[in-house]
Amino acid sequence: MSQQRTPLFTGLLEHANQKPVQFHIPGHKTGKGMDEEFRKFIGDQALSIDLINISPLDDLHHPHGMIKEAQNLAAEAFGADHTFFSVQGTSGAIMAMIMSVCHPGDKIVVPRNVHKSVTSAIIFSGATPVFIHPELDENLGISHGITPEAVQKALAANPDAKGVFVINPTYFGISADLKKIVEIAHSYDVPVLVDEAHGVHIHFHEELPLSAMQAGADMAATSVHKLGGSLTQSSVLNLKSRYVTPERVQSVLSMLTTTSTSYILLASLDAARKHLAINGRTLIEDTIKLAEKTRKQINNISHLLCVGDEILGSNATYDYDPTKLIISVKQLGITGYDVEVWLRERFNIEVELSDLYNILCIVTPGDTEEEASILVHALQILSEEFAVKNKDEEPLQVEVPDIPVLALSPRDAFYADTEIVSLNHSIGRISAEFVMVYPPGIPIWLPGEIITKENIQYIHSNMDAGLPVQGPEDETLETIRVIKEHKAFR
Ligand SMILES: Cc1ncc(COP(=O)(O)O)c(C=O)c1O
Repeated sequence: MSQQRTPLFTGLLEHANQKPVQFHIPGHKTGKGMDEEFRKFIGDQALSIDLINISPLDDLHHPHGMIKEAQNLAAEAFGADHTFFSVQGTSGAIMAMIMSVCHPGDKIVVPRNVHKSVTSAIIFSGATPVFIHPELDENLGISHGITPEAVQKALAANPDAKGVFVINPTYFGISADLKKIVEIAHSYDVPVLVDEAHGVHIHFHEELPLSAMQAGADMAATSVHKLGGSLTQSSVLNLKSRYVTPERVQSVLSMLTTTSTSYILLASLDAARKHLAINGRTLIEDTIKLAEKTRKQINNISHLLCVGDEILGSNATYDYDPTKLIISVKQLGITGYDVEVWLRERFNIEVELSDLYNILCIVTPGDTEEEASILVHALQILSEEFAVKNKDEEPLQVEVPDIPVLALSPRDAFYADTEIVSLNHSIGRISAEFVMVYPPGIPIWLPGEIITKENIQYIHSNMDAGLPVQGPEDETLETIRVIKEHKAFR
C-alpha cells in the first residue's frame, strides 16, 4: 500500500468530474440549489464532493470500496490492525469504544477527569465506573493522568472490569507510562481504551510520548481534526486487540453514526492521513523546535512560567508533548480567563483554553515564527502591565476541586425521579445532572454523585472568574436537578 495514495479523496474527485445527473440528496445538487452567498463562499469545488453513500462511493456503515481502502491505509499509518473513520468526532469514537466492551452492569476503570463523552457512554451502556483519582498538580491547578500503581490497585480490587480507560496525552499534553498501564491491564486480560483526542501527531515523531498503538493499547479514539490537519468533527478509532473484534466495533459505531455521513469530512481524513504519513515527521520536528523556542522566550518574561520538562518525574508525568504551551499566569494576580480576554481584546489572539491559573496555547505545523513572536510580544506587555497594577497582591492560591462520592450509577441517576433545588441548598443531595467547566469539559459532578460544599465553592470561583460552567438545565446555575428524596410517612 502506498501512503501517497488517497483512494477516497481521489475517488470522489473522479466521480464529481464525470458530472453525473443527480437525482439524489443532497438537494443543493453541487450548490445550484442553495443560497448564492453561501455557495460562493464555500466554493463549487467543495460542493461538488458534498455527496452521499451512493454505490460507487462506498458506505461508511458497510465499507467495501474506497472508504475501506482509505481506512486500511490509515490503519497502516497509525500502526493499527483496523481503523474506523468517525464523522462524529472523538466523542463518537469514545462512545463506540466503551459500548464495544461494556454491557449493562459491567465495570470500567476510568480516571475521574474524563471528557463528557465518556460519561455519556457510561450512561448509554449502563456500565458502572470504577474511578481512579488523576494526579493533581497543585502548583498549576490542573489534573494529570492516572498512574500504573493506581491502575494496579483498581484492577486488583476489580479484576472483573471490562476495560481500563486512559487519557493519553491529557489536554495539556502530559502522558503517564502507558506501556506499563497496558502491561498491567493485559495481565488481568482487560483491554485498554485510550482517549487520544489530543495526540494524533504523537505517533509520527519519536521525541513525543508513545501513541496508544505504539504502547500496545487495544483501542484509541484519536482526533485527527484537532492536531492532524483534517476538518473539524473528523476523527478515527484505531483497533489492535485480542479482546475486541472489528465486527463488534463496526456494529456499535454504526449504531451511533448518522446515515448521512459527510464525504467532505471523510475525504479530509484520507488526505490528512497521507500528509501525516508522508510529511508528518518533518513537520512535527519543525513544530517542536518552534514551540521550544517560544517556551524559552516566554520563560524570559517575568511573572510567567511556561511549563517544560521540569514537570516530568512523577508517576503521572512520565512524558510530555512540548508543542503544548501551558502558561501559568497566577503570579500576575489575574486568572487565566482574564488573560484570555485581554489577549483577545488587545492583540486579537485566541488561545486554546484558559482556566483559573493558566492559558494553553497549541503550536502546530500551521504556525510560523511570526505568530509565535506576536504571542511572545503580547505576553511581554501583559506582564509589564499587570505586574505593576498588582504589585502588592499575593499570587492566586491554587484550588483544585474535590472528587465527589458516587452514590448511584450514572445511568440510574440519569433515569431516576428528580426534583429541582437551589444550588446553595443542594449540599448532600445526589446530582442528576452533569456540571463541568467547558473547555475542557471535565466534570465537577456526574449524575449519581453527592454534591459537596467545596464543589459548590469551586463552581462559584469559576463562574466569578467568567469561566464557562456548563451542563445543567438551569444555565444560571441557581438551581440544580437532584434525585428526589422519599421521606417516611408519619
Ligand atoms: C480529552 C478529550 N477527549 C475527548 C474529546 C472529544 O473530542 P471531539 O471534540 O473530537 O468529539 C475532547 C474534546 O475537547 C477532549 O478534550
